[in-house]
Amino acid sequence: MAGLPLKGALQDGQLEIIENGGVVTDDGKIVAIGAYDDLLAAHPDIDMDKPMQPSVLLPGFVDCHTHICFDGTRSRDYAMRIAGKSYLDIARAGGGIWDSVTKTREVKEVTLMESTVQRANRHFQEGVTTIEVKSGYGLDMASEIKMLRAIAIAAFHTPSTLISTCLAAHMKPRDFEGSEQDYLQWVLHELLPLLKENDLTKRVDIFIEETAFTASVATPFLQAASEMGFDITVHADQFTAQGTEVAVKVKALSADHLEASGDKEIALLAGSDTVAVVLPGASLGLGMPYAPARRLLDAGASVAIASDWNPGSAPMGDLLMQAAVISAAEKLSAAETYAGLTVRAAKALGLTDRGALQVGMEADFQAYATSDYRDILYYQGKMKPITVWKRGKKITML
Ligand code: NIG
Ligand code: FE
Repeated sequence: MAGLPLKGALQDGQLEIIENGGVVTDDGKIVAIGAYDDLLAAHPDIDMDKPMQPSVLLPGFVDCHTHICFDGTRSRDYAMRIAGKSYLDIARAGGGIWDSVTKTREVKEVTLMESTVQRANRHFQEGVTTIEVKSGYGLDMASEIKMLRAIAIAAFHTPSTLISTCLAAHMKPRDFEGSEQDYLQWVLHELLPLLKENDLTKRVDIFIEETAFTASVATPFLQAASEMGFDITVHADQFTAQGTEVAVKVKALSADHLEASGDKEIALLAGSDTVAVVLPGASLGLGMPYAPARRLLDAGASVAIASDWNPGSAPMGDLLMQAAVISAAEKLSAAETYAGLTVRAAKALGLTDRGALQVGMEADFQAYATSDYRDILYYQGKMKPITVWKRGKKITML
């Protein structure tokens, strides 16, 4: 991934593959990379992890969009969905985001923390060394803080880096008296200052959709959050195209979903520094089309791939499998797919210190038991890493 352009289409010939290579790490960072024999000659006394078999070493994956802090499942919603019920039928039967809010509100912070750790650990074993985690199933002061605290504490109990985002603007909670606009004012003037004061998150997200918040109320909200110093990301164009325009206007780090994006939205993203994050797990979970990743890349956008792991629309949470599936459907090259899981996903989080095997970067990487990197996508996610390192430390999990 070293030196790959952060925007636009990529060909596999652009991948820099080091045969018989090695990496030297110190204090959690990569300090040298190159031919194994040369590195050994230069560092004769070093502690070594030499694999037992030929392996492909990749940078750790960055999952730049998840909702892995939640309680309860929504398998009832899923059963209704595959039986052909509409979004509205499911909501009327007590399903949807509000169901997860009710369950997440009821549970203790420590329980929420533990289940977040379990999901983060599963992700880590599958090579995901940095994970963004959103709030958004609390939607009141105490419960949003509970979620963000649970994420912050979970970060001490998993090898993965966890990066939190406040998604209090997921939907207007049913028990809030007032309009969508009133609710966003409450988030802006009551919740966000407290989160800032307590250093509970640096990022703010919003779900822009007819059923959540429209572009016209979202724009001033995001502008104000940005002025407060928060990084911005947007749930955009999932069912109707209206979020991307706002995301680009407020210079969001990323616009995520994009299943309903058209030519106009693609051109806006291509002409901006906002990363287009596609979420194949949500397409699979909802039985809906994929985001136009191929067209986004050809237009010149930066495309990242994330899992959207959540109890409702994307319960699977297998990032590599989802990336393999969208790459086959959308015709993404291996280089585009891996860039979307690493450097470009790091860019979506505003991180420049990870996502490539390159001197100075975090020493986060994963080894696969094959000598041909093409095998990994070929097996469509069934080939998992045999070893994962975080900040240069080999982590063995039970
Ligand atoms: O990214 N689109 C909105 N939010 C989530 C779904 C959350 C849920 O259904 O619980 C998403 O798909
Ligand atoms: Fe999401």
